[in-house]
Amino acid sequence: MSTRPRISARISAISESATLAVDAKAKAMKAAGRPVIGFGAGEPDFPTPDYIVEAAVRAAREPRFHKYTPAGGLPELKKAIAEKTRRDSGYAVEPAQVLVTNGGKQAVYEAFATLLDPGDEVLVVAPYWTTYPEAIKLAGGVQVDVVTDESTGYLASVEQLEAARTERTKVLLFVSPSNPTGAVYSREQTVAIGRWAAEHGLWVVTDEIYEHLVYGDAEFTGIATAVPELGDRVVILNGVAKTYAMTGWRVGWLIGPSDVVKAATNLQSHATSNVSNVAQMAALAAVSGDLSAVAEMRAAFDRRRQTMVRMLNEIPGVLCPEPKGAFYAYPSVKELVGKELRGRRPRSSSELAELILEEAEVAVVPGEAFGTPGYFRLSYALGDSDLVEGVSRLAKLLSEAR
Ligand SMILES: Cc1ncc(COP(=O)(O)O)c(C=O)c1O
Repeated sequence: MSTRPRISARISAISESATLAVDAKAKAMKAAGRPVIGFGAGEPDFPTPDYIVEAAVRAAREPRFHKYTPAGGLPELKKAIAEKTRRDSGYAVEPAQVLVTNGGKQAVYEAFATLLDPGDEVLVVAPYWTTYPEAIKLAGGVQVDVVTDESTGYLASVEQLEAARTERTKVLLFVSPSNPTGAVYSREQTVAIGRWAAEHGLWVVTDEIYEHLVYGDAEFTGIATAVPELGDRVVILNGVAKTYAMTGWRVGWLIGPSDVVKAATNLQSHATSNVSNVAQMAALAAVSGDLSAVAEMRAAFDRRRQTMVRMLNEIPGVLCPEPKGAFYAYPSVKELVGKELRGRRPRSSSELAELILEEAEVAVVPGEAFGTPGYFRLSYALGDSDLVEGVSRLAKLLSEAR
């Protein structure tokens, strides 16, 4: 019998998505009849706007969309994405610089697979979204964490980045607004970081998927436009999931210099070929339409954000800086870890999250999933009354901690 491992070392090293795992557990408890309130999911609770759905229905009836189309995306969608990028970011790109992917996630994988050789280092600001480490690892890259906390609103400084840079650093991953913290870099901070990256010849991979979800006086700044000195060493990742409530449609994209896009398209041509034509036509309606649907969602998220942050900060032992973008709050619960609660003494935010799910029937994602134990991520993309009920249950339970 072969003694070779059944699963390759490369794939065994990939961990389950913690956010999806929490969501699945909460959904299973719900299906079993328990009144769970889930703060785990990273998706808007709104349906996709009708005009987008209608475009998909029309596309499904057209025989030309029943066939293979170019692996890198429908030409009309690539053109519309180039125009949308100019409209929203002021960044001039040609359709040939766009690769349409199966969601932003595939764009993340392909960007790192295309840029990294084994041993190349990537600077990643922690807390970070769970998919980045796995994509970097699978590409043979080495992730170097730049850890931030609530004292700076989870923003990294140039000094911190410089301290983490080595001769092997190839890429800076820049994510603003951030999942999981909701942190948004100001224009000045973005320019300072971008100039520093340019000065050291680094590539910048920037994930702009939450560009339209910013609140109050915060503003989204596209680093490629704000820092022309970066030249062609920028790869932009984006998609329709969050802006148009289209998480299930699976359309994202990667924008970069044409050699990078061509190489990534070759990879995609063997891995998945074209994204579903029906979904691409829905995405075309989304990106070439106006932004009124996202304006409505943003108003609801903003209201929920303020309610959540206020209620969380009223809980003793919980400290929640104001998130400025995306739809997540990222409170510190460090003071509660190790305290006695309902006869147990959770020793980590992960154990505390488990106890909360069992005792209060509330699902939160522990900071362990994002590289920083001692925190929770709570999505506020859920209905107002569920939100209030869920945080009230949390408050009631956590007030018993001794
Ligand atoms: C920061 C970030 N980038 C990319 C994605 C990918 O989104 P999708 O693959 O659904 O397009 C997500 C989804 O949670 C995200 O939070």
